[in-house]
Amino acid sequence: MKLCVIGTGYVGLVTGACFANLGNEVICVDKDRGRLRSLKKSVVPFYEPGLEALVVKNLAAKRIRFSTDLEDGVRRSEVIFIAVGTPSKESGEADISSVIEVAKKIAAALRKHSSRKGFKVIVNKSTVPVGMGDVVTKILIERGVSPKNFAVVSNPEFLREGSALADFMHPDRIVIGAATGRAFNVITELYRPLNAHIIFTSVKSAELIKYASNAFLATKISFINEIANICERTGSDVVEVADAIGLDKRIGRKFLNAGLGYGGSCLPKDVMALIHLAAESGYETMVLNSVNDLNQYQIEAFIGKIFKALKKTKGKQITMLGLSFKPETDDLREAPSLKIVERLREKGVKVRVYDPAYKNRSVPGLDLYRDIYAALKGSDAMVLVTDWPEFRELDFERVKNIMKGNHIFDGRNIYEPKRMKDLGFIYAGVGR
Ligand code: UGA
Repeated sequence: MKLCVIGTGYVGLVTGACFANLGNEVICVDKDRGRLRSLKKSVVPFYEPGLEALVVKNLAAKRIRFSTDLEDGVRRSEVIFIAVGTPSKESGEADISSVIEVAKKIAAALRKHSSRKGFKVIVNKSTVPVGMGDVVTKILIERGVSPKNFAVVSNPEFLREGSALADFMHPDRIVIGAATGRAFNVITELYRPLNAHIIFTSVKSAELIKYASNAFLATKISFINEIANICERTGSDVVEVADAIGLDKRIGRKFLNAGLGYGGSCLPKDVMALIHLAAESGYETMVLNSVNDLNQYQIEAFIGKIFKALKKTKGKQITMLGLSFKPETDDLREAPSLKIVERLREKGVKVRVYDPAYKNRSVPGLDLYRDIYAALKGSDAMVLVTDWPEFRELDFERVKNIMKGNHIFDGRNIYEPKRMKDLGFIYAGVGR
């Protein structure tokens, strides 16, 4: 099939490269010329395992190309994906201005070429407030595009950073929100090679499914963090609790890892957007407000634990392991690490940082190290913020010898408290 993907950010690029790899002809459109120049040379502007290789392969096979010409991309394609960003506004509301701008450009392109009479399916992949499908449809009709020639579909994505390609190829479900069977059939055909469970819903339900999924995941995390906080006060161990309750099939073990809470570009933003969306429609959320509050509290409580244990903070040196909001990505959006560095520095602590994704990079204002042991040398405490696999493999005898102090603050519960104690460390996890 001939596809146009508008937006070469995370969602757009993964979608474009994966569909190209399934044998479709894909034009990826973006207005950022610098980004397109890099992509034409197969340089992906962010870190996602396997994505660059997929772009290289499909560029060589001429199944994917990059262009700034939206009109041409729209004109040539049967399916047009909108995959532009919907960041949070100050109020928490989703900023939909990029989607509106793209919808107007699609309308202009389709009106000009209406003589071609091809039926186009416009698919919203961006996370948008409920009702956006209607807004896009209205924009097109108001600009003279006949409703007979197009349909707007909502097809939310559930990709996780760090495992986006595998998530695309093996989805738990594909949600297609469409008003007509015709549009649903086109998109079903596109996904047919994945042999996945496909759900046909209304456009509005599909739009809400995306927010509800992320909000539920966030709720699971805040829930287990609340249990962790109770564990700390009652002498229970949250990992044992999570393992046991997770065996109940109705609950499940996934997303029950207590720690520093959820970060990244999706969960925090989508919880806030859903709170806002509900308020706009006259309902004040209760669960979601607490989910968000607890997520903020979790970082502050962890910082408080560090301050309390170190007593005097001025002049102390801390090594922070992990900068990205989660492993296998270099994404710093809503990363707890940044807040922790800021708060430690305010108290006069010298902070060294090591992150596998930042070995050969610099970040203004951060003291980044290439080698984990060099970073730990002479430090009073180790503060683990991201659960990168290599942190599990540390040589703790060596760590003990090179560190000045013996405090370990494990924000992701990756170490066994008893083992750390036996090794001579003063260990503090979350809820253990
Ligand atoms: C999330 C969803 O998992 C995807 O399904 C969705 O498509 C995506 O948002 C999106 O809307 O684009 P992502 O933000 O990449 O994906 O990351 P997750 O793997 O969901 O992790 C989010 C945060 O929760 C991380 O900070 C992680 O450390 C934290 N987390 C996760 C926990 O604290 N505990 C857990 O048990 C699991």
